Amino acid sequence: MKNAARKNILKIKPYVPGKPIEEVKRDLGLKEVCKLASNENPFSPSPKVLKAMQKALKGLNRYPDGSCYYLRKEIAKNLKVKETQLIFGNGSDEVIFQVVRAFVNEGEEIVIAHPTFLMYGIVGQIAGAKIKTIPLKNFRYDLVAMKKAVSKKTKVIFIANPDNPMGTYVTKKELDVFLKGLRKDILVFLDEAYYEFAPKKDYPNSFSLLKKYKNIIVTRTFSKMYGLAGLRIGYGVSSEEVIDILNRVREPFNINSVAQAAAVAALKDQAYYQKAIRLCEKEKQYLYEEFKKFGLSFVKSATNFVVIDVKKDSQKVFQKLLRKGIIVRNMNAWGLKNYIRVTVGKPQENRKFIRSLKEIL
Ligand SMILES: Cc1ncc(COP(=O)(O)O)c(C=O)c1O
Repeated sequence: MKNAARKNILKIKPYVPGKPIEEVKRDLGLKEVCKLASNENPFSPSPKVLKAMQKALKGLNRYPDGSCYYLRKEIAKNLKVKETQLIFGNGSDEVIFQVVRAFVNEGEEIVIAHPTFLMYGIVGQIAGAKIKTIPLKNFRYDLVAMKKAVSKKTKVIFIANPDNPMGTYVTKKELDVFLKGLRKDILVFLDEAYYEFAPKKDYPNSFSLLKKYKNIIVTRTFSKMYGLAGLRIGYGVSSEEVIDILNRVREPFNINSVAQAAAVAALKDQAYYQKAIRLCEKEKQYLYEEFKKFGLSFVKSATNFVVIDVKKDSQKVFQKLLRKGIIVRNMNAWGLKNYIRVTVGKPQENRKFIRSLKEIL
């Protein structure tokens, strides 16, 4: 069947996710495993969210509401945008697919940073697009070089803000300069999956930019701070014109009803989630201090994960941590051989990680 597949598909390296806890327990015969690999919130969803999910379970014999009526209303109200400016995805990942499916023809170009979130390149390759990759400068997006890389064929530019894997962010000023004079038929994809963890001072206000530019789409997710990664729900906010186009390629029932109920309840339970953010920040500082004591360099992060230079083959460090029941991300997939990425976990998980890392190194 290999000959039957589209040629560009065979060139794609499949996305390798962080290992699931159960798989590591099974494979290594471990009882206790902590996952610090996929930038999830280490705590369960709030009790109010769990209750809303329980209630939604009874209606699972029916298809979900394809319009996400209640969730749409809630988000539009919170963000002060029109309901028709929103599109939902089975994770914000799906919005990346929708955008590329709707806007990028085979042979056209997508501009991304390197390294960045792997899905931009993968989704672009599926579409048969040419992927232009612009190296980071001091672990940060080089927006000047990204703008220079634009050609007549450029259709979408992806900016993860803050970025994964490095955790750095693009400032308001940098983004303003970037957008000024950029062709209006290029869609700028501002991926704000880690928005809730980013510092607010010089971070761009994407929704005020949306008033000025019709060619921006901002995505957010319930997978990170809101701790609903397992339910798969995210969304995009853009001009009505862009959303109308995306709705034509959206699968009709892409958001399940339990996810819709959970997301509405999560938005109404901000106090619970703000507490999780404060704890994450405190624990991140703990990790920084430990890395410093140990002489390890790391990239200061505007997210809930940190990239560390372990000065050794990261594959080996990753394997040794795994045997101790700790799953991190080895950065080989991004071409960074001596780096690992660790998600900020619960306090006891972070301490176990530091102890184990010290033993290994
Ligand atoms: C930068 C970035 N964007 C998007 C996603 C996808 O998130 P989800 O599809 O769970 O909303 C991730 C997940 O790791 C990410 O790191």
